[in-house]
Amino acid sequence: LSNMAADPTPAVVSAQWLADAIQNKLVGPKLRILDGSWYLPKTKRVAKEEFNQKHIPGASFFDIDECCDKSSPYDHMLPTSSDFSLYVSDLGIGNDTHVVVYDTSDFGSYTAPRLWWTFRVFGHNTVSVLDGGFKNWVADGHPVASDYTKPEKRDFQAGLNQSWVKSYEDVLENIKTKQVQVVDSRSGGRFRGTEPEPREDILPGHFPETINIPFTSFLDSYGKHHSPENLIRLFQEAGVDLEKPLWASCGSGVTACHVILAAHRLGYSGVGLYDGSWGEFFKRAPPELIVSEGKKD
Ligand SMILES: *[C@@H]1O[C@H](CO)[C@@H](O)[C@H](O)[C@H]1NC(C)=O
Ligand SMILES: *[C@@H]1O[C@H](CO)[C@@H](O)[C@H](O)[C@H]1NC(C)=O
Repeated sequence: LSNMAADPTPAVVSAQWLADAIQNKLVGPKLRILDGSWYLPKTKRVAKEEFNQKHIPGASFFDIDECCDKSSPYDHMLPTSSDFSLYVSDLGIGNDTHVVVYDTSDFGSYTAPRLWWTFRVFGHNTVSVLDGGFKNWVADGHPVASDYTKPEKRDFQAGLNQSWVKSYEDVLENIKTKQVQVVDSRSGGRFRGTEPEPREDILPGHFPETINIPFTSFLDSYGKHHSPENLIRLFQEAGVDLEKPLWASCGSGVTACHVILAAHRLGYSGVGLYDGSWGEFFKRAPPELIVSEGKKD
C-alpha cells in the first residue's frame, strides 16, 4: 500500500463537529449529510422508512440497493460512474461538496464506511464518516428531524478508480499467486463456517489464504471508530502488514469497507475491495476453494 500525502478531509468527524455545522447553518451546497443505512431483510428494519421518521436535520437518504448495478445477480454492486453521478447530483451534491455519511445501525457504524468508500472510488475525496453514527448522535442529545426538503440538484462528475475494485477472477488468481493479503470482515463464525450466512442460498466459510478481522473489531464499545493506536495494534495482531498490498472482502462488499477506512486512517490508500465478496465467491468457486469447518461432506 502507498502512504498518502496529507489529505485535508478527515475520514471521520465527531458528532459535535457536525452538530456545530448544523447550528451554524453550514448544511447546503458545500456540506451535505447522507443517511446510508441498509439492513438485511431478516432484521425487519426498513432503512428508508426509518429515515422518513427520523434523521439528522438536513440529511438525505442514500439507498445502497437503488444506486447500484441492477444488472448484476449479486447484491448492491458498484454502479457505473454516470449512474452514481446522476444519483448524487440529484441529492444536491456537487464535486465541491463535503459529504458526511452515517447510518442508524446498533453497531454505531455499519454501512457508512461503504458509502464513504463509494465516494472515494468515484474520485470524490471530500467525504467523512460521522463517528458513532445516529445511535450516538441520539444518545448525546443532538437534534433529530422528520421533515425533508429535497436539496436543489448540483453537477457532479464521477471518475472511477478501477484499480480499487477487485473481481472474482482477481481473487482466484491471488489464491494461486498469494501476492496480496486479503482481510475478510465477517464475524468469526461466518468466516469459519460454524454460523449461518444471512442469505439462505449461501453457506458460511471463506476462501483460502484469508485473514479474518470482524468489522466490529474496528469499533469501540460505544460504536465509535477506534483510535489510530488501536488500529495499528489490531492489524499487527491479525498479522496484516500495511506496507504490503491488501484487499478487503466480506459478505457483499459493505462491511469490508471498515478495513479500507481503518487503513486509510493510518495513512494507507489503495486497499482493494472485492465487491462481489463471499456472496459471489461461494456461488462461483469450485468446492475445493471453499474452506469451512462446518462443511459436512
Ligand atoms: C468539478 O468538476 C468540474 C468538471 O470536471 C471541474 O471543472 C471543476 O474544477 C471541479 N471542481 C472541483 C471543486 O473539483
Ligand atoms: C487509483 O488507485 C491507484 C492505486 O491505489 C493509485 O496509484 C492512483 O493514484 C489512483 N488514481 C487516482 C486518480 O486517485
